Amino acid sequence: FQPKVLAGRHVVVTAGPTFEALDPIRGITNHSSGKMGFSIARAARDAGAEVTLVAGPVHLPTPRGVRRVDVLSARDMLEATLQATRSASIFIATAAVADWRPASHSEQKIKKDGSGKPPVLEFVENDDILLTVAQGARAKAGQLFCVGFAAESENLEAHAKAKRERKGIPLLVGNIGPLTFGQDDNSLLLVDAHGVRELPRAPKLSLARDLVAEIAARIPSAGSR
Ligand code: C5P
Repeated sequence: FQPKVLAGRHVVVTAGPTFEALDPIRGITNHSSGKMGFSIARAARDAGAEVTLVAGPVHLPTPRGVRRVDVLSARDMLEATLQATRSASIFIATAAVADWRPASHSEQKIKKDGSGKPPVLEFVENDDILLTVAQGARAKAGQLFCVGFAAESENLEAHAKAKRERKGIPLLVGNIGPLTFGQDDNSLLLVDAHGVRELPRAPKLSLARDLVAEIAARIPSAGSR
């Protein structure tokens, strides 16, 4: 039995990596599997929410009843997320968004020019999707509850606390190391204004259900989306 703690709510989840194209053939991405975000989407749906899943390039089936928007780049993900969060009451950012994209995109395949010199790539910083949404009017007015994730290779608790403050969000979830990708298990550190709480190692779907319950307990009970 699943209590429908998110009935009547619209939840938006970002998941997976982004892909930043260099030319029609190549690009830059990362090892995010999307499993945590997809598990959260499923858990939110089971809790009665209407769910929009903004997914980077991943090899995962869409959870039944979830609206999925596929994107490639961080810019596409930002646009899809801004659109979806207009009617949402909860935003959960699990995506491993590329911090940088190539400064230019070549319409044609970049070729070796025979000089033996490799091309020099320049990058520009991508917008922070979570920060942008968290600074938006709906989040500021308390109508959109924003949750961020942090994957760190050291000092998780300190980084997670600092990140929560910097992004101005009520809840930040740290992935407790070691950093592994595509695993079915994880353990999480929940950081809010009151302190930290650990969700011990468990399958991602089980952690996702616990996280959904934690979020439901923190949002105003009255009102609709
Ligand atoms: O600052 P950092 O990238 O470590 O923060 C991670 C959190 O911010 C995650 O929730 C991630 O989904 C989100 N993020 C984002 N857009 C970016 C970078 C990170 O939404 N460009």
